[in-house]
Amino acid sequence: MLRVGLIGLGEVSGVHVNAINASEYGELVAVCDSDPDRKSEWTEFPFFSDMESMLQKMKLDVVHICLPHYLHQSATELCVKYGAHVYLEKPVAINYEESLKQLELAESTDRKICVSF
Ligand SMILES: NC(=O)c1ccc[n+]([C@@H]2O[C@H](COP(=O)([O-])OP(=O)(O)OC[C@H]3O[C@@H](n4cnc5c(N)ncnc54)[C@H](O)[C@@H]3O)[C@@H](O)[C@H]2O)c1
Repeated sequence: MLRVGLIGLGEVSGVHVNAINASEYGELVAVCDSDPDRKSEWTEFPFFSDMESMLQKMKLDVVHICLPHYLHQSATELCVKYGAHVYLEKPVAINYEESLKQLELAESTDRKICVSF
């Protein structure tokens, strides 16, 4: 089973949890949100308030990114740096320059970067 992490536990995250739970290929093993108040709602998984700590400790195969737009590019880069495939909520980035960075990253790595749109 692929080890899946989820970053950003807001409005849309439940859709991702349902999809991961319905999949026969992966299981959710860790969640991350910078808001410590979220922790009490996610007691069944190891909770991290810092995404790099989660990536360092959990050896994730796939990360679902459900963060605010302005973090999409930097979070994708970080996840790929730690060897994870990425399933990213739309939009791919906040502007043309960051979108190009995403494209260059996708072309230069053997990790898969998928944008949910
Ligand atoms: N809400 C929807 O129905 C919906 C649908 C499609 C796509 N999306 C996309 O999904 C993304 C998330 O949307 P949302 O509605 O769930 O947003 P949201 O604001 O409800 O949730 C974002 C979460 O990210 C957390 N966060 C912020 N900075 C962080 C950081 N540095 N590290 C860890 N966690 C951090 C916040 O605390 C919050 O819990 C957006 O890009 C949005 O466009 C949302």
